[in-house]
Amino acid sequence: MPFISLLYFRTAAVFLLVGILMGLQMAATHDHSTLAAHAHVNLLGWVTPALFAGYFALNPSQAERRLARVQYGVYVAGVVLMGPMLYLMLRGRPELEPVVVFSALLVFAGAILFAVIAFTGPARVSAPRVAAE
Ligand code: HEM
Ligand code: HEM
Repeated sequence: MPFISLLYFRTAAVFLLVGILMGLQMAATHDHSTLAAHAHVNLLGWVTPALFAGYFALNPSQAERRLARVQYGVYVAGVVLMGPMLYLMLRGRPELEPVVVFSALLVFAGAILFAVIAFTGPARVSAPRVAAE
């Protein structure tokens, strides 16, 4: 497996644990005010990085590009910042909103870089295998 895929799967695993803990906290306390933080830590932190990991595992030549590491750094920095800041904002710290907006823009920049990778570079389309008759 390419290094970037391993990194993305490990990152996703950590966010899954954090996301589940946030869900369990909501369930245990019956306070669902942090629902959006829980949902986005799981969706931006667990689901999306796992999809990135799968893409790079299926396209090893794309995984070798320097842009793939830049994309990882930008995207993950955005989610790492967004998770706790959104959580704290929803727990009554409205002054953190500009930081949440900034982190969301970082996430968006990471998504743009992923689109650039997906549309450029050495991706190969392999033909489906036809069974020998
Ligand atoms: C044991 C693990 C989990 C627990 C205990 C949990 C708990 C919760 C709770 C209590 C809510 C609030 C429901 C509401 O107020 O309507 C919620 C919402 C949500 N959870 Fe989880 N969750 C877990 C795992 C996950 C995972 C793994 C994902 C995504 C892959 C996820 C995605 C969501 C989403 C998207 C919402 C918002 C749903 C909506 O808009 O109504 N959750 N979760
Ligand atoms: C930086 C990127 C994103 C931003 C800024 C963003 C922003 C938002 C906002 C403002 C809401 C409404 C929250 C509320 O009413 O309390 C929301 C809800 C939601 N978003 Fe996102 N979103 C982003 C990415 C995503 C992605 C990639 C997914 C799915 C993979 C997603 C899934 C959801 C879901 C399921 C809800 C409903 C649950 C909730 O209220 O939190 N979002 N999002």
